[in-house]
Amino acid sequence: MGDLAGIRSRLPYLSWLGIDAIWLSPFFRSPMKDFGYDISDYRDVDPQFGTLEDFDRLVEEAHAAGIRVLVDLVPNHTSDQHPWFVEARSSRLSLKRDWYIWRDGTPDKPPNNWVGAFIGGPAWTWDEGTEQWYLHQFLPEQPDLDWSNPEVEAAMHDIMRFWMDRGVDGFRIDVVHGLGKDPELPDDPPEVAGMPHSLVNNHPSVHPILQRMRSMVDVYASHPVLIGEVHLLETSQVALYYGQNDELHLAFNFPPLFAPWDATAWKEQIVVADAHFKPRQAWPTWVLSNHDNPRHRTRYGSEERARAAAVLLLTLRGTPILYAGEELGLENAWVPPERVVDPGGRDGCRAPLPWDGTPTHGWGTSDPWLPWPPEADTRNVEAMRAEEGSILHLYRRLIRARRESAALTAGTQELLGAPEGVVAYSRRFGEDRRVVLINFTEEPVEVALPGAWMIEIASGGLEGRQFDGVVPASGAVLLKRGSET
Ligand code: GLC
Repeated sequence: MGDLAGIRSRLPYLSWLGIDAIWLSPFFRSPMKDFGYDISDYRDVDPQFGTLEDFDRLVEEAHAAGIRVLVDLVPNHTSDQHPWFVEARSSRLSLKRDWYIWRDGTPDKPPNNWVGAFIGGPAWTWDEGTEQWYLHQFLPEQPDLDWSNPEVEAAMHDIMRFWMDRGVDGFRIDVVHGLGKDPELPDDPPEVAGMPHSLVNNHPSVHPILQRMRSMVDVYASHPVLIGEVHLLETSQVALYYGQNDELHLAFNFPPLFAPWDATAWKEQIVVADAHFKPRQAWPTWVLSNHDNPRHRTRYGSEERARAAAVLLLTLRGTPILYAGEELGLENAWVPPERVVDPGGRDGCRAPLPWDGTPTHGWGTSDPWLPWPPEADTRNVEAMRAEEGSILHLYRRLIRARRESAALTAGTQELLGAPEGVVAYSRRFGEDRRVVLINFTEEPVEVALPGAWMIEIASGGLEGRQFDGVVPASGAVLLKRGSET
C-alpha cells in the first residue's frame, strides 16, 4: 500500500520529473473504512504508513529538493472511532454532543431526504443508544462535524497549526463545500433528490468559515496554500470559494474532468472557467485524474489522446494538478470482484504505480493491496525513463517548458479560431508567446497560423522543427514563434 518512507525514497524521481509540490492523501490514524478519509486521530500517522518522525524526514528531504508538501485536511467529518464522536455518541448530555449533527425522530424516518455518498441510502444513521439520528454525507462511519459550533472550528484550526508548525506548505481541503450547512437542513429539491447530498451542499455560511481559515494560515510566514476540493458541478459556484481573494487560494474545478474528449466541450470549459475565475482574479486549476475517478487514459480510450491531454493540461492558464501515474499513461487496473476494497468503486485508479519491470514492480511484494495496472511489465517508471519517446518524457518536457516560459506559467490566454475538432489558444507574457493546438479528432487537421512557428513540443514526437500547418490525428503541439535555423 506504500508508506511515507517509500514516498521519501522516490523524491529523486519527482525531482527528475520536475514537479513543484506533492499532495499526500490522508496518512493519519484511521480505521480505513474510506481509506484514510475517516480519521480517528488528526495528529498522528497511521502505523501502516509510518511515524511522525517519518513525516518530518519526508518534509525535510522534500524541501531540500525544492518540493513543497501539502497534506489532506478532512474537516467535514471524522471517523466514528474518533474520540470526539465516541464521546458525542455516549450521551445526549455529552459535552461533545453538539460537535456533530443530531436530529430527533423515529427509527423509520430519517430527518430529511439527503442521500449519503457511496451508500445510495439516507445520509443519516439512527443511534440506538441515544435514540437520535446523526448526519453523514458519506459513510455511516464518517459522521459530519457541525461547523456552526465555534469549538469545532477552533479544534480544526489547532490541527492545521499542528501541521503547519511541522513545516507543511498547505492543505488540500476535503469536501470543503460541505462545511456550511443550511441550519434548517431542508430536503434537497426534487431535481437533485437521489444524488448524494455532498454534490449539492453549498451554503453561504461556508464563506466566513473560509475567511477565518485563510486569516489563520496567512499569519504563517511560509504562506501555506489552501486548495479546496469544491466538488460542485458548476464552475460558477466553484469560483465563489475564492472569495475576494480572502478564502481559498485555489479550488479544484471538476466540470472539465467530467467533460468528454471533445473539442466543443473543452472550448466551453475554457470559456466558462475564464468567465467565472477572471473577474474575481481567481487563479484556475486543471485536473484530469485523481483517486476518485477512472484515470483519464481509460476514459479517453488511447495513449495518443492521453498524450494530447497532457499538452492541454500543462499549457492551460492555471495550476495543473497531476495524479501519480498519469505521467506513465496508466490505465485503470482491472479489479476482480473478490479484490474490491473501496465502498465507492474507485479501486481501479488507485492501483500501485509500477516502478520497474520486476514481479514486485519495486514494491517489495508481488501481492499489493490492489492488482497492478495493465502492462506493468513495460509501462513502469524504469522502462519509460529509459525511452525518450515515452509519455513520461513528454510530461517531463512539458513541465520544463512550462517552467521556462513566462507565457505558460503566468501569461494571458486567448482562444483562437480553429477548424472543427481542434482547440487552439495562445499564451502571452510580454514578448514571450506560445500557441497550443489540440486535435481531438482521429484525422490530421490543417490549421492555418500567420507567421512562422517552431514545434517546441509535440504529443507524438517530431519536435524542434518548423510547424507545417498540420496537427496529427489525436495529437497536440506547443508552438513557439520562430523559424528553423
Ligand atoms: C473526497 C475525497 C474522497 C473521499 C470523500 C470523503 O471526495 O476525495 O476520496 O472518499 O471526500 O472524505
